[in-house]
Amino acid sequence: MIPSIEWIENKVKMIDQTILPQKLEFLEFEDYRDVANAIKIMNIRGAPAIGVAAAMGMALASIEFKNKNKEEFLSSLKEAGELIKQTRPTAVNLFWAVDRILNKIEGVDKKSSELSEIIIDEAKKMWQEDIDTNKSIGKYGAELLDDGDTVQTHCNAGSLATVQYGTALAPVRVAIEQGKKISVVADETRPRLQGARLTAFELQYDKIPVSVISDGSSGLMMRLGKIQKVIVGADRITSDGVFNKIGTYMVALAAQDNKIPFYVAAPVSTLSMSESFEDVKIEQRDSKEVSYVLGKVQIVPEGVNCINYAFDFTPFELVSAVITEDGVFPPKDLVEKYT
Ligand code: MRU
Repeated sequence: MIPSIEWIENKVKMIDQTILPQKLEFLEFEDYRDVANAIKIMNIRGAPAIGVAAAMGMALASIEFKNKNKEEFLSSLKEAGELIKQTRPTAVNLFWAVDRILNKIEGVDKKSSELSEIIIDEAKKMWQEDIDTNKSIGKYGAELLDDGDTVQTHCNAGSLATVQYGTALAPVRVAIEQGKKISVVADETRPRLQGARLTAFELQYDKIPVSVISDGSSGLMMRLGKIQKVIVGADRITSDGVFNKIGTYMVALAAQDNKIPFYVAAPVSTLSMSESFEDVKIEQRDSKEVSYVLGKVQIVPEGVNCINYAFDFTPFELVSAVITEDGVFPPKDLVEKYT
């Protein structure tokens, strides 16, 4: 897949993920407020991708403010960071990215325009790091896959959810590069259909065999012996479990009942080991995402209440191991290493 986001001549260019798979089109932004809005309305989504988008949004803000005196530059930049942080509450990479940019220039004795250059370089560095990290996740994760495996995944934790390559899909990509025969089963992932629209799109684009199932099919597919491993991504990993797209928990429960390994693939920037379940705000989105299919066809009678949590929590008891860029860790070892 092509990169989901790029920095080109002081502009942020990104794939518009809201119109896939029908159209592969790009958006270009010069204003950080437009990048923040793109994160909010999910033109770009997926924890690592929105982290990089946030960093690039900060880079655009630094260009806008670079002629201000240093005090005003710093306070305007912090305000821009707050706006970006308010777009989506659950994926920790968003907060991590804004803070990393602000920390980079903290106490640096340079004028505003020079600080802007430092910020742009840091955002570009984060872009490259994301690709390298995903390749490393892929290398470690591929060791868990056997020739002939079918891997189930939920939502989209592929190239489109990162800069490139993906987290959950990186092991699949590397295993295939190594010559293993691997296929993917993608849950459709109601209500935004990231599995049906995005995972299926990017795997077909890269000629990797993929089948889409309705969300309720996991248990039966596993019982029929059609799934050998599950790999999902994460929006935030706390000391007790994994926040990921709504529906992940149900897949993990089905995997446990069918004795199928359930792996989570995520960069270290997704870890938040000082937090636990109660500390995290789970995003609730517009109920119309449930009552209408992709905003078009109404499927729930007018006036009926709909509840739309965007993420759920899978406790570590259901997780076989977490794959990071440093290796494969059973949850106990993960907590020990990163706390
Ligand atoms: O609401 P989204 O599409 O941003 O949710 C994305 C997910 O839940 C992904 O599985 C997660 O961010 C991992 S992406 C590598």
